[in-house]
Amino acid sequence: MFKERAIEKMKEVFKENTWWMDHTFSVLKYAEEIMEGEKIPQEEREQISLIAILHDIGAIDAIKIHGSDAAPYQEKEGARVSREILEKIGYPKEKIDRISYVVGSHHTFSKIDGVDFQIQWEADLLVNLETRPVRSDREKLKAAIEDNFKTTTGITLACERYLK
Ligand SMILES: [Fe+2]
Repeated sequence: MFKERAIEKMKEVFKENTWWMDHTFSVLKYAEEIMEGEKIPQEEREQISLIAILHDIGAIDAIKIHGSDAAPYQEKEGARVSREILEKIGYPKEKIDRISYVVGSHHTFSKIDGVDFQIQWEADLLVNLETRPVRSDREKLKAAIEDNFKTTTGITLACERYLK
């Protein structure tokens, strides 16, 4: 139920920017596919879905406040906006800190410190590799997949989509 409420809030934030909305749904789909493949316990899945739903939620305010959606601004505003949304929908306080941390660090590889963050990283990259220049160089792309993907399901999805 928190998932549906968070999706409604996400749609409100991105109502004038459907690109972000579509991107978010694509990332959520991959996150859920990875969770299924990795047999993540049901009780942990909602939390990871919420991370995916809110991961780019700071983009609009980053542009409004800083004039740029560059990673550090998006992370900073995302940490705040995700927390506000989760508080508004009544999500348990003890779980909000973790989501806010992941959203607030989601562009920073060195901050990955758990399977929830790793799944978010892989789901986002599965979508974003589509437009990365590295795609045109097969060897570099292989290396990028090796460096970034850790879950068996994520590796399989990345190879199927980008190396076949
Ligand atoms: Fe993203």
